[in-house]
This record gives sequence, C-alpha cells and structure tokens, in this order.
Amino acid sequence: MSDVSRSSPAEARTAVVIPAAGRGVRLGPGAPKALRALNGTPMLIHAVRAMAASRAVSLVVVVAPPDGAGEVKSLLDAHALPERTDFLVVPGGDSRQESVRLGLDALPPEYDIVLVHDAARPLVPVDTVDAVIEAVREGAPAVVPALPLADTVKEVEPAATVGEPEPVVATPVRARLRAVQTPQGFDRATLIRAHETVTEDVTDDASMVEQLGLTVVVVPGHEEAFKVTRPLDLVLAEAVLARRRLNDGF
Ligand code: CTP
Ligand code: MG
Repeated sequence: MSDVSRSSPAEARTAVVIPAAGRGVRLGPGAPKALRALNGTPMLIHAVRAMAASRAVSLVVVVAPPDGAGEVKSLLDAHALPERTDFLVVPGGDSRQESVRLGLDALPPEYDIVLVHDAARPLVPVDTVDAVIEAVREGAPAVVPALPLADTVKEVEPAATVGEPEPVVATPVRARLRAVQTPQGFDRATLIRAHETVTEDVTDDASMVEQLGLTVVVVPGHEEAFKVTRPLDLVLAEAVLARRRLNDGF
C-alpha cells in the first residue's frame, strides 16, 4: 500500500529539542548549568553545535531557563551555526519533562523526526547523533544511545535518613544493563502521544514510549556523550575538549 501523503524516510525532516532549563543544583552554586562555560563557551552552545553538526538536523529548539530566554537568544545569535540550521528559543518549565513538552509545543508541523538532547551532554559526537537518526528513519518509533555499565548496580531499599546503611534488594545482571544517553530519537507523533499520555515523573523520554507499549531500541552510545552533572564532570569535559584540539592539530 502506498501513501503519498507521508514523506519517504529519506525525506523525513529532523528537529532537535534541547532541554536546557535546569538549574544544575548538583553542579553547585552559579549560573544555570547550560550557561556555564566550557573552555570559554557556554555548555549550551557546545550542545547546539553538536546537534547542528549532523547534516540531517534542520531545526534546533532550545528550551531556556524560564527567565533566560532572551539571554539564550542573544547567545545563539552571537555564536555561528551552520546556515542549514534554524533555531527557536522557548522558556522551560519546572521539570525536564515539562520543558521537553514546551519544546514540542513549539515545533512546526513539517518535522517528522524529533530528537531530544540534554544541554548537559555538550560533547556527543556527530556519529552518535547520526546513528540515532538513521535508526528512526529505518522505522524504530524510539531510539536511545546507550553504553554497557562499568559498575555493578544494586537495587536498595532507600534509607529514611541520608547516610544510613541501606539493605540491598537485588543485583540485576550487569551484562543486560545499559546506561542511557541522549540524543534520543523519535517518530514525532509517537513522542507527542507519549507526552500526552504519561503523567508521572520520568527521567527520560524513551521510558514514556515504553509505557505506551512500543518497542524502544538501543544503538551504541559514546563515552564523550556523558552528562555534566557534578563538578568533576566539568574537569572531564574540558579535558575532552583539550584532547580534541590536540588531535585536530589546532
Ligand atoms: N532540564 C530542563 N528543565 C528542567 C530541569 C532540567 O530543561 N526543569 C534539562 C537540563 O537543563 C539538562 C537536562 O534537562 O540539560 C538534564 O537534566 P539534569 O542533568 O538533571 O540538569 P539539571 O536539572 O539542571 O541539574 P540538577 O538536577 O543537578 O539540578
Ligand atoms: Mg535535574
């Protein structure tokens, strides 16, 4: 059966929503995390460039701190992006989920594939971005990049008081576990339905699609796609940038 009203996979247009509205409490006092500098450039700009590096991406929707949309617009105007990439800025919400939903609300109709990428993962390589887009183009409703774990993981009964010993409840088999990163990629209609349907708090978008009963697939992630969460992560991020400069020869 043919359906000419739908774009063929090769023509599907791709937009990225970048939730960047978090405060960065675990990073400590200072500017909102996405606006902190890495080697003199705001983390958000690194993240936007990482998405715009993919030739498939034609729109980036940045979800800014609620009182920082103007500042984010000026930042994006001041830092060159490839000509093929448009951007929009919208103010975010109280939770990541709410921020992503506000970004989706701003999405023009012509985008069939939507990626959601944390501003806090500024250094994801373009090959990872392209692998996610490719898997969505090939028909997966939801795609997540992920890596095997180095640490063994225990499930515990959380203690009522912080610092108290916590009884272990279970030890999942490590070989079956994956640490999930972003960008996560979606068929647009699926992601919008997930955000309309799932109301409880989640920490990633793919888990909402899982709750719809659809299959989410994993593609290989990358160690440079780590999330800047705590102060030591800033040290690591700047070390990665320094290594890139050495390898690029400038
Ligand atoms: N995020 C958002 N809106 C929120 C909370 C988070 O857009 N209300 C974004 C963050 O800006 C970040 C991504 O979601 O890019 C992942 O969240 P996380 O790493 O937890 O960042 P923060 O919430 O800023 O950090 P913390 O939890 O330490 O405060
Ligand atoms: Mg958070």
